[in-house]
Amino acid sequence: MDSCYRLRQKGIVPVLAHPERNPTVQARPGDLAGLVRVGAVVQLTAASVDGRLGRASARCAKRLLELELAHLLASDAHAPGVRGAGLSAAVGAIGDRALARWLTVSVPEALLAGEELPSPPVRMHRRPGIRRVLRR
Ligand SMILES: [Fe+2]
Repeated sequence: MDSCYRLRQKGIVPVLAHPERNPTVQARPGDLAGLVRVGAVVQLTAASVDGRLGRASARCAKRLLELELAHLLASDAHAPGVRGAGLSAAVGAIGDRALARWLTVSVPEALLAGEELPSPPVRMHRRPGIRRVLRR
């Protein structure tokens, strides 16, 4: 946690790649909150989100999204041919176009520009007013 804080103090944004694949994080996804609070940015691998990397990774990725502890969705294609590099199946699995756009476009743009991250889109289940309207 101290390392993340020190990096941020130096203007470096630490990006945690695919923590959803880590058994310790899978057991307690909420524990990433401390790192996120001190400035870590969490990147999910698309193949985790869409289930290609197994149920544990998929479940953890979903939970990190629910907890708003994920900021990026990426291929994690270290080299051509490692695995399918597409993001489309993961975007479909997320099922929220605004959130998918934030993860794949808005946040990466801000990081590359050295800007503050944009706020995540308000999600349907967090909009009681809209849910109330839809129930009528
Ligand atoms: Fe990787």
